[in-house]
Formats: sequence, C-alpha cells, structure tokens
Amino acid sequence: STLLLLLGSPGTGGGDGSRALPEPQACGVVPEAWRFDCYPERGVVVTRELCEARNCCFIPASSSPPAPGRNGVPWCFYPPGFPSYSLVSVNATDLGQTGTLVKMVKTYYPKDILTLQLELLYETDNRLRVRITDPSESRFEVPIAVPKATEKASNPAYSVELSNEPFGIIVKRTSTGAVLLNTTVAPLFYCDQFLQLSSSLSSQYIYGLGEHRSSFLHDIHWNTLTMWARDVAPTELTNLYGVHPFYLAMDEGGTGTAHGFFLLNSNAMDVVLQPGPAITWRTIGGILDFYVFLGPDPASVIGQYLEVVGYPAMPVYWALGYHLCRWGYGSSNATWDVVKNMRNYGIPQDVQWNDIDYMDRSLDFTFDPTAFSTLPDMVKDLHSHGQRYVMMLDPGISSVQPEGGYWPYDEGLRRGVFINHTDGSTLIGKVWPGLTAFPDFSDDVTHEWWYDNLKRFHDKVPFDGLWIDMNEPSSFVDGSTVGCPDTELENPPYTPGETHTHLSHLTSSHYNMHSLYGLLEAKASARALKRMLGKRAFVISRSTFPSQGQYSGHWLGDNRSHWKDMYTSIAGMLTFNLLGVPLVGADICGFSEQTEEELCVRWTQLGAFYPFTRNHNSIDQKPQDPPAFSPRARSAMKQSLLLRSSLFPLLYTLFHRAHTHGHTVARPLLFEFPKDVRTYGIDRQFLWGKSLMVTPVLDPGVDYVVGYFPQGLWYDYYTGDSIRSKGEELRLKAPLDHINLHLREGAVIPTQRPNTTLFVSSGQPLHLVSSLSEDGSAGGELFWDDGESIDTLETDQYAHVVFTVVKVRSDHYRPGSSDHYRPVRSDHYRPVLRSDQYAPTTTDQYAPT
Ligand code: NOJ
Repeated sequence: STLLLLLGSPGTGGGDGSRALPEPQACGVVPEAWRFDCYPERGVVVTRELCEARNCCFIPASSSPPAPGRNGVPWCFYPPGFPSYSLVSVNATDLGQTGTLVKMVKTYYPKDILTLQLELLYETDNRLRVRITDPSESRFEVPIAVPKATEKASNPAYSVELSNEPFGIIVKRTSTGAVLLNTTVAPLFYCDQFLQLSSSLSSQYIYGLGEHRSSFLHDIHWNTLTMWARDVAPTELTNLYGVHPFYLAMDEGGTGTAHGFFLLNSNAMDVVLQPGPAITWRTIGGILDFYVFLGPDPASVIGQYLEVVGYPAMPVYWALGYHLCRWGYGSSNATWDVVKNMRNYGIPQDVQWNDIDYMDRSLDFTFDPTAFSTLPDMVKDLHSHGQRYVMMLDPGISSVQPEGGYWPYDEGLRRGVFINHTDGSTLIGKVWPGLTAFPDFSDDVTHEWWYDNLKRFHDKVPFDGLWIDMNEPSSFVDGSTVGCPDTELENPPYTPGETHTHLSHLTSSHYNMHSLYGLLEAKASARALKRMLGKRAFVISRSTFPSQGQYSGHWLGDNRSHWKDMYTSIAGMLTFNLLGVPLVGADICGFSEQTEEELCVRWTQLGAFYPFTRNHNSIDQKPQDPPAFSPRARSAMKQSLLLRSSLFPLLYTLFHRAHTHGHTVARPLLFEFPKDVRTYGIDRQFLWGKSLMVTPVLDPGVDYVVGYFPQGLWYDYYTGDSIRSKGEELRLKAPLDHINLHLREGAVIPTQRPNTTLFVSSGQPLHLVSSLSEDGSAGGELFWDDGESIDTLETDQYAHVVFTVVKVRSDHYRPGSSDHYRPVRSDHYRPVLRSDQYAPTTTDQYAPT
C-alpha cells in the first residue's frame, strides 16, 4: 500500500543518518490508525520538545482523550523513514536463510545493538520461525524445549519477502496472497533493554494474548496488553497472573482462514493493538524469536502452536469431577462436615480441597495440629468413598525458625535451593507466613528438595494433588526486606505497565525469568507427584506460561461474586483453551464478596461446563457450597453436576484429543464455523468439542436466554426437538433449573449413568446419544482407559472406539443381516434417548439423612 511505500522510502527524515526533524508533510500523511507510538513511556506528558528530541512527528490527535488505561492515538509517532536496520546480506541455509542487519544511527535508548543476525527457519509447511539475535554476545533465551527442524519445509504454505531498507519481513499465505505479517510498518528497535517489533495485522479479529480480563475477541482500539506475571484480582486493562505472548488471528477478507503468531520471550513486555490494524511487541529483554503458524483454520493454528510448546497432559479422570473448596473452613472437622453434607444430599463431589488455613502458622508442609488434627482421618475417609484430596502450597518458605524447627527451610538452605541476591545471600520477601525465601525451581536440586518435602508430608496426609498459588511469584514487599538495589535492571529505560511494583531486586535471572516461575513450579510439582504416586499428576497453578498445559491446569484467580465475573469467565476459559491449558475454570459462585443464590445456581450450571469445575470462596464469606442453599437451588445445582458427570465419557475423550492433537476442549463457536463472521465475537456461548453447544444464563432475573445458532440442524439435548437454523439468534426458555444444551447435527457422543463420584459412576453403563444430520449420518468417538495410569496410550492400555451412523434405505434393510445396521429410525431427527439414558430431573433424588 501507499503507506508501506512511504515508510519504506529512505531519506525523508533521518534514514540517511542525519538527525533532521521530519518534514511536516511527511508526518501529516500518516493516518491516525497507523501512527506508531514514538513516546510510549508511561507517566510522561509528551510535549513537542520531548517528541522532536527523538526526531519524531508531533501532531495532537483529532479524537477525544482516550478512555482511562487506553493509550489512544499517539501524538508523538515515528515519521516515514525513521532510522532502522538495513538488511545488508542474505545467505541460504539448510533450513532457510540467514542475514545480517545493520543500523548506522543509535536510538535514544541505551545500548543499541547495531549489528544483528537474522535467521529464517522454514520449519514445516505450516510453521515459519524467525530469530533475530546479537551475533557478538549471547542473550537470554526462554528455557523451554521447542522442536528442532532437521530439513527445510518442502512445500510451505507461506512465502517470505525481505525488505532491505529499512529492513522488514513480509509473510504471505501463498494460496491467497493474504499478508499475515509485515514488519516494515514501523522501525525495529534492538537495544539491550528495549526491543520493539511492529507489524500490520491481517484483520481486527485477534484472540489469545493472555492473561488479561477482557472479551474473548480483543479490542484493537489502542489497547495495550502488558505481560508480566502479577498477583492481582482480575481487572480489565491490566496484566494478570500468567504470560502468553501468542495470538490467533483471522486472515483478511472473512474467508475463514486463520493464522497464529508466537513471540518466544519471557521478559516484561507491552503488546499494543491499534486500529491499523497493527500490533507492536515491546519487550525489555531476551531476543526476538517468533513463529508464524499458517493454519489454515483456527483449530489447526492452535494444533501447530501446541506442537511447539507442547500438548497438554492427559488429566487423571477425577480432575474432571466436581471440586469443592473455600478459604476459611477453619478446621478439618468443618471441612469434613461439608463433604458429609454433600453425600447426604447425593450431590456429586469428587474432590475436597483446603486453602492455607489447614497449615500450621501458614507454613508449607505442615498442618494445624489443633484445628486440623483430624485431617489425616478425613483424607482416609475421602479415599474410602472414592473421593480425593487436594491442598494448597505457596512457594514462599518461612525463613523464620518457628518453634520446633522447620525442615523445609533448613534443608533448603543446606542444599542451596533458594533464590539469592547477587552477593549470594538468600533473598527474603514476605508472603503468608511472614518472612520467606523462594525456591529456585529452575534448578533440579530444588526439584529434588520439593519432592522430599512432598513425600514427608504425604506420609502424614496422603493428598492426591496440588494447588499451587502465589507463584507469580507474589510477595507483599517490593523486592525484598532490604529494599531494591540501584541497578540498570531495576531501572530499565522503558517500563511496561504494572511491572514496577514487583520489578524489584532483580538479579539478571529474575529479570528474565520472573514470569516463568509458575511454569517451573508446576513442572517440579507434577514431576514429584508422578514419582510419588505413580499416577498422572493433578496440579492447578495460578501463574502460567506457554507449555504450562504439560504440567498443570489453571484457575482464573480471585474473581468476585458478580454476574459480570461469571460472564468474563467464559472468555478466560476459551482463551486458555487456545493457549494449551484446557483444564481451566473460574471460582464458581465467585471468590470475593458475598454470592447470592440465583447467581450461584446459574454459575454452577455454567461451571458444570468448565473443563475444570471448582467452587471456591474467600475467607469471611458465607458458605456457598450447594447444601448451603434452599432446596430448589440445591436441586438445580445437583442436576447440573449430575449432568456434567453423565457427560464424563465425552469430556474425557475431548481431553484425549487435546493431549494427542492439541485440540480445544471448551471451544469457541468460531472454530467450528470460521466462515460465519457472526461467530467471531461470541463469548456468551461455547462448545464442548465440535458438537455440544452450551448457552448459559448470564443475567439475573430472567427465565430465557438468547443464543446464536450457526446454520444447520441443532437438537435440544433434553427433548431431542430439532431447530433448523439459517444462522440466527433464538430466544430459549431457561427456568432456574435449566441450562440450555444443544447438539449439532451429525454427532454421536458417549455418556454414562452418573453417580456421586466419577469413581462410583465408572461401573455404570455407557450410552450413546446421536444427533443425525439431514442425510441420516452421524459420527463420534470414545477414548477409555483406567483413568490414572501414566502413558496408557504409549503402552497400549486403552480403548478407542469410533462410532458411525449411516442411514440405510428401509427397502434395503433386512433384519438380522450383518451388513446392515440401522440404529435409529430414519424418519425423525431426535437424539436416541434410551429409557435408561440419564435425563436430568428437577427433584432431589436423595433425601438428607
Ligand atoms: C490467593 C488465591 O488466589 C486464592 O484462591 C486463595 O484463596 C488465597 N490466595 C488464600 O490462599
């Protein structure tokens, strides 16, 4: 386009090395949507003088001031021809090309790296990798294992064009010519602590980029998404617990094709979306190492991304049951009473949890000898009922010697497992127990120490899984107890949003690895559990990073008991499914603030369709477990949990697909209907796999819900009534005891007769529910194994059954002939609801005893 030519033409404003101010005309031609911020520093009132000192264009924007937290149109922006790198040589390599980039003019940030090495790696037909490094000095690289290609892709779905002056990369989809990446739109920066790459976006439809609270579809109107793991209750426009520099985007033109982009970098960064549409990656360390995935459909993009960072682990079967938790049960007996109450009402419960209040003085690997004296007995009782126990661990290890000694700290010191100051002394912060040291999970010695601690505790309390919290890592003091040193790492020339309060006391490794803490702790925890229990590990982590799904699931953190928080949980759940962490859910009924009955019922119905289903409540709030409510509410919750249980064979099979193919479990509608633009923004509905559509009620005081039905035939899951949609919104009945579920045509889904735990249900009969398409066909599958052994797939200890329904013309049908099978009546379109198939009712089947 004209714009690209303008930006690409040298000599208009300093590209030739001079420091002349840009010509006013050159500034004026840059449309607002394409102005790339030349003065992104926060908290600075950017004046003409400051801006021109950077040789940038200064034009006050025409639009009204931006909304709080949004940047708005930058008043100070790069002129066409702003100094950038030039590509001075290119050579072919076995896997692609290598080149040298050179810049003549230093920028206004310290330590420009003026010569760079470019590597283009044509790794597979659908995956391009680009690395830009400093050839003279090695820089930090993210320590996760990524695949190494051995030969160049033979028939790539992409073409790469290199612009020499200024340097830029343009990636196109060969089949359509769609431009997926074009980095010539703004100058490249590569300074020691300021690396910046901008690109055009193919469309405004962009997803991923966790962890933030937002709609599923990101807003590209000057939206800055900061990435830096941070302990903060989910709030809009700020960085949360995890970091995921990956996006999925639809190609231009609404054709339904999609691509992805992943920046493999763990330093604090800002990602700016602007209406061009365009994106800017601004990171304060590491290297520029990125991937482009060609799809061509959204689901394939995710599969290709997960090929790089790792497919999610196959969960242990009970992970998919109902989990009950709260902060502040106060005692093991009070916890146990809740479990007994759930049993009395016959409400499904697979797992009971405890928060930090089980600990003795908030110390990891201890339990309160008074209030929680019966904890071991409770856990044995859970086990004898086919239930499991999970408790919290925080990474902070008390450094104050409590009475009676504290092995985890003493032994940790002895083995040198804690994070140190640069002078070698132990860094002390402050978390729940008070002064704490932080294990360095990047070290195998720490993994061994963590295992030993878990084993010693397990000998006393035979827990089944781990909840790892506060692992951003969070500390209640800035830096450490001795404040912050005055170093370059503490004072980067550019500070991404909301990093300052925790960007403290950084040794160079913490500067680079802060956001990896949750990943590395999850890895140590999953390893230890596998080794100790000889089964699949169950770990739920608050902080996450790419490849997390291999080790843990995630819950969406400290939400509030608000209707809005219930709604935003859907976007959170869908985003984490894109990010390869499908075992995800939000605190059902809300964590902080007091929930109310109607909200809690609706949330339990929605939560029954989170891949990870846990009710969790904050300290000092009234109980919100199902027995705490009226019979009507309790009954509605119970029915939704039984319904979930009945769908376990389907859910488990979907997790198998996630584990083996990188599929999503909870799936956005757009994945199944990528050509239907009306699905692109949907985050009030979702699918399980490709066929089961969930339309929850997300508003108070209503007995109906409006849902979008993509074109085709849909069946009401409960009645079998069919809807033939042209691609329209429909108003559905939704009384308090009902969550709308529809089965898309052509599905066969496996279900089971539910019971109060998945373990007890496992002996119950399995069923199939089939929704025929117009031509009478349907298909589906079931993956089944013992639910807990490691690597059942690799060792051939599983069953995989594929179901196919074909319509046979009745005049061809001969009863008893083995080559003809007619499973359903061909003259009506209803799921086969056999009489013993589980169908939810509204009555409590179990009276309290
Ligand atoms: C913060 C966690 O996010 C929350 O779930 C937990 O209840 C508290 N820490 C107390 O441990």
